[in-house]
Amino acid sequence: MVRRGIYCAVTLLAVSGYVSNAQTPPEPYLHVPEDRQLAWHGLEYYAFVHFGHNTFTGEEWGRSQSPPDVFNPASLDTDQWAQSFANAGMRGMILTAKHHDGMTLWNSSTTTYKIANSAWAKNRTEQGLDSDVVRMAAESAKKYGIRFGIYLSPWDIHRDPAMPKPGLAGTIFDEPQIFGDASPGDYNELYSQQLTELLTMELSDGSQIDVFELWLDGASGSDTVQTFDWARYRDIIREHQPEAVMWGHQGVDARWVGNEDGYTLETNWHTINVTQDDARLGEQDLMVGARDGTYWTPAESDARIRDGWFWHEEEKPKAGDALMAMYLKTVGRSVALNLDVPPDKRGLIQDEDIASLIEFKELRESLLDKGILQPGANITASSVREGNSDAYGPQNLLDGRDDSYWTVNDDETTAWVEIDLGDVRPISGFIVQEHIGLGQRVGSYTIEAFVGSEYTTVVNGTSIGYKRIDVLSNTVSTSRIRLSITQSNAVPVLQGFQVLGPNDISKTSR
Ligand SMILES: *[C@@H]1O[C@H](CO)[C@@H](O)[C@H](O)[C@H]1NC(C)=O
Ligand SMILES: *[C@@H]1O[C@H](CO)[C@@H](O)[C@H](O)[C@H]1NC(C)=O
Ligand SMILES: *[C@@H]1O[C@H](CO)[C@@H](O)[C@H](O)[C@H]1NC(C)=O
Ligand SMILES: *[C@@H]1O[C@H](CO)[C@@H](O)[C@H](O)[C@H]1NC(C)=O
Ligand SMILES: *[C@@H]1O[C@H](CO)[C@@H](O)[C@H](O)[C@H]1NC(C)=O
Repeated sequence: MVRRGIYCAVTLLAVSGYVSNAQTPPEPYLHVPEDRQLAWHGLEYYAFVHFGHNTFTGEEWGRSQSPPDVFNPASLDTDQWAQSFANAGMRGMILTAKHHDGMTLWNSSTTTYKIANSAWAKNRTEQGLDSDVVRMAAESAKKYGIRFGIYLSPWDIHRDPAMPKPGLAGTIFDEPQIFGDASPGDYNELYSQQLTELLTMELSDGSQIDVFELWLDGASGSDTVQTFDWARYRDIIREHQPEAVMWGHQGVDARWVGNEDGYTLETNWHTINVTQDDARLGEQDLMVGARDGTYWTPAESDARIRDGWFWHEEEKPKAGDALMAMYLKTVGRSVALNLDVPPDKRGLIQDEDIASLIEFKELRESLLDKGILQPGANITASSVREGNSDAYGPQNLLDGRDDSYWTVNDDETTAWVEIDLGDVRPISGFIVQEHIGLGQRVGSYTIEAFVGSEYTTVVNGTSIGYKRIDVLSNTVSTSRIRLSITQSNAVPVLQGFQVLGPNDISKTSR
């Protein structure tokens, strides 16, 4: 990374007695992301896969009442999932290894309540086929070049004494009710074992499973009080998958966005002031975050292509334009989009869902592939840090790199760049990125277009962060564009700026 390279150069210069301050990059501002979080920001859009007993019983929160045999997909094909997601431009998939009902999709040694104990699994074994759905999905993700993540529900109805399970009474699946601080047994120990099994799983090629995100759901539908040992879970994740982010209601590495409808508010801070051990933030605070907060805990939006999380026969997928609107209100506001696309009873993603994902992809590309600024475009800045255009000049906004940026001197917190397009061109949107490796700084910005004989403001923005996408409701014809940082809590450090030509979606946005 150039950031490290520059620090290194400073040290060398200082040691060898040359001009000591000539190329000093800005200091990191307050709290900055870990490398695992920076990599995660770059994923932006991935699939959530709810699959398991509920797929077959038609439930959303199954009550752990049906035996493993209920799981019986006639033509399960995890390759079809991964290939569909990769074709749709999704960069990963997160699978429900254990939903609230406690049924494990992998062959866990911690429970009898697992699909490995189903007739379906026995039949697969007889045919010499794997029946571990987590391993199968992880292998498919690898095969199609997308990342793999794991959902492991902390709330476990199967072990919760408050949830009666007469359906399992007298069977080998009727296991001790150890969930809850007041229950005998140690649920944190069970959960830690499950987490460890998943994070140390071996794939059939002998390699270790590679996990980008652990999704530790905050939901519970019972009054049983269970104190979760989040620090212990985090340590297990760090030990076995140091590059994986731990998603929870409020961290440690990524937070809930406060709703499950695929949107957030205009202003979004990547930081918050609380951890998983503190009282829970409300929906508004989760959406907005806390400016200059103590922890880098960016938001992820979990949303659904259908009404439910699990597949239900009567439901239909949303159309591409509805997904595009979600995208602009999540990814376009610096929040990752984790879009649920559930496999059906056959164990396949349905054609109509795939069609919606592709329609969405085409709309996205009709917007994002219309960038009109190339490296070398005529861009000038209000100023450049230490006058050093090679290191900090505005051309760095156009080079497509995530390790270079435009910045100004430390005592300047407002600044602008202007682009001269040469002739009048129609434009309809913008992408702006801060260089978040050095923190989140900007509180407001404007984008103006030169129309007739003067500049008019076409975007009044608040926070920027990892990435802002602004789409104009009407195309504007202009020869010059100005991006101004109008408020920042420290010297602004911008990584990218792109101007978008006419697109197919301007009417659906904002
Ligand atoms: C599950 O694991 C156990 C213990 O390793 C093994 O005996 C059993 O055959 C496995 N079940 C399946 C369906 O692979
Ligand atoms: C085992 O699986 C095969 C192939 O999916 C299927 O044709 C067969 O009916 C199954 N057998 C049982 C006993 O379920
Ligand atoms: C978060 O903490 C910072 C630093 O103490 C403080 O400036 C800020 O006001 C806090 N924000 C919220 C929303 O609590
Ligand atoms: C670049 O833009 C500036 C400001 O609009 C203009 O004065 C200058 O002539 C342009 N340079 C070129 C080479 O087009
Ligand atoms: C932006 O804010 C300025 C000042 O409040 C206002 O005059 C202008 O109309 C706003 N423009 C847009 C596009 O919202």
